[in-house]
Amino acid sequence: MRSAKDFFAPLAVGAPTPLREVPVRPSRMIHFFDPSNPKMAAKVPALVGEVDVLLGNLEDAVKAENKEAARQGLVDIARATDLGEHTQLWTRVNALDSPWALDDLTTLVTEIGDRLDVVMVPKVQGPEDIHYVDRLLAQLEARAGLTRPVLVHAILETARGMANVEAIAGASPRMQGISLGPADLAADRRMKTTRVGGGHPGYLVRRDPVDGDVGGDRPTYQQDLWHYTIARMVDACAMHGILPYYGPFGDIADVVACEDQFRNAFLLGCVGAWTLHPRQIDVARSVFSPSAEDVAHAWRVKEAMGDGTGAVMLDGRMEDDASLKQCLVVLELAERLAA
Ligand code: GLV
Ligand code: MG
Repeated sequence: MRSAKDFFAPLAVGAPTPLREVPVRPSRMIHFFDPSNPKMAAKVPALVGEVDVLLGNLEDAVKAENKEAARQGLVDIARATDLGEHTQLWTRVNALDSPWALDDLTTLVTEIGDRLDVVMVPKVQGPEDIHYVDRLLAQLEARAGLTRPVLVHAILETARGMANVEAIAGASPRMQGISLGPADLAADRRMKTTRVGGGHPGYLVRRDPVDGDVGGDRPTYQQDLWHYTIARMVDACAMHGILPYYGPFGDIADVVACEDQFRNAFLLGCVGAWTLHPRQIDVARSVFSPSAEDVAHAWRVKEAMGDGTGAVMLDGRMEDDASLKQCLVVLELAERLAA
C-alpha cells in the first residue's frame, strides 16, 4: 500500500506542506450529541462505525442547569461504549472563561482521557488560550498516567480569533485542526444574519442592466458569506499541517443548501464539517469523499505525467507539475479514506 509520503516524495520542490502526524483517520463528519439528553445518548451505540467522529457537546445548546449532567453523561457513555476502530470520540468543552471549563477538562481527562481523541475548545481568541489548554492537559495526562496525548481543536468564532488564526494553528504540537463557528463569529462581527451557518438570500450580486432589463428583473446570484473566512482558515491550517473544517449548518430540513455549503468548504480545502442531525451524516460523507470520477482523473494525470515534471495534454487540457500536485492531494485523500 502506498503512503502519502510516496505520493509526494518525487515532488519535494514546492510540494504541499505535509500534514503533521495528526490523526489521519477520517473526520468527514463530526457528529454532535448532547450527553445530558437521554434520547440522544441512547442513539450513540447505533452511530458507532457510522460516523467518523462522535462529539459529546458540553457547550452551547446544552442548558446551564444541565452542564454537570452532560459532563457525567459523556463519562458514562465513553465507558460503556466500544467505539471500535472507525469512530473517534471528541468533546466540545465549555469556553475557557465560563465557570465549567476547568471541571470539564479535569473530569474528562482524568476519567476518560484514554478514550478521548480530541478536545474542541470554543471561542479561542489567540495562541494563549491554546497554551493554557496544552499545559493543563499535560498536567492532567501526567497525573492520570496517560501515554497518548489528547489533541486540541480550536473553534474560530470571534473576530480576535480570526485575526490570530495563524498563531492559533501553530500554537501547539497538539493542534489537530480548526473549525469555523459561523453563528458565534457572525454575532461577534456584528453581521446582520440571524441563522446558524450557510448563505443568506440578501447577500447576492445582481447582473448589470442590459437593454430590455427593467427594475429588479435581473438575474441575481447568491454569494458564499463564508468564503473569506474559510479561505483564511484553510491557509493557516495548511501552513501548519493541521486540518480545517466547516462547522454547523442549522437549517436541518434544507439538505440541499447544507450540501452546497459543505461542498464549497470541501473545494476550498476543508476535510469535514459538523453534523447536527442524522440526515446531515450522509451529506457530509459524500461531499468530503473524493468522487470516483475525480480519483480516476487524478490517476490518469499521474500516469500521463511520468516523473512528475513537464507538461502533457489530456482531453484538450494542459496538465503540468502543479495540476499533478492537486491530483496527488485527491489521491492522498482517497487512499486515506480507503485505509
Ligand atoms: C458554533 O459553535 C458556531 O458558533 O457556529
Ligand atoms: Mg459557537
